[in-house]
Amino acid sequence: MEPRIERTLISEVQIKQRVRELADDISRDYKGKIPTLVSILKGGIIFLTDLMRDLTVLHEIDFMSVSSYDSGMETTGVVRILADLSRNIEGKDVIIVEDIVDSGLTLDYIRHILLARHPRSLKICTLLDKKARRLVEVPIDYIGFEIPNEFVIGYGLDYQEKYRNLPYVAIMVPNE
Ligand code: IMP
Repeated sequence: MEPRIERTLISEVQIKQRVRELADDISRDYKGKIPTLVSILKGGIIFLTDLMRDLTVLHEIDFMSVSSYDSGMETTGVVRILADLSRNIEGKDVIIVEDIVDSGLTLDYIRHILLARHPRSLKICTLLDKKARRLVEVPIDYIGFEIPNEFVIGYGLDYQEKYRNLPYVAIMVPNE
């Protein structure tokens, strides 16, 4: 049986509007610079592609793939690099673009790896922030929405690799 969608948490319209606002903030903060947006696969891609189309500054994109979840709903605490960036970020202004920050373990790990490569600056932008679940403090510069401690799907976020295509963010009830 498929899991149930309990209710829409953030609508397509709300996401669109907030992504535009975040893009405006980033465009203002990076005026005259050419930031590299690093998207964390796979969840971050939809947010990245919407965000970049709303940016008014020149920018580059790159991807990194890590795994922190064992395709279920519980964090394993294990973070592995599955695919690394394609280019050197030394001296670059880097913005990590994430779908969601939950425990913060993944982001903390990625942040330290990227800082060791000596970017000129490193900021973090996440669409969703599940603050109540935080295990490590990570500095987040741009936050789309703070959300409650619920498992969410849609707009890039998956449950067992599915539902990433939903244009909204929904709360999911797993099957017992
Ligand atoms: P963290 O290391 O606990 O912060 O987990 C970050 C990653 O866990 C995210 O990039 C997502 O891939 C996944 N994740 C965390 N919470 C959810 C959720 O509610 N729905 C779907 N994926 C989630």
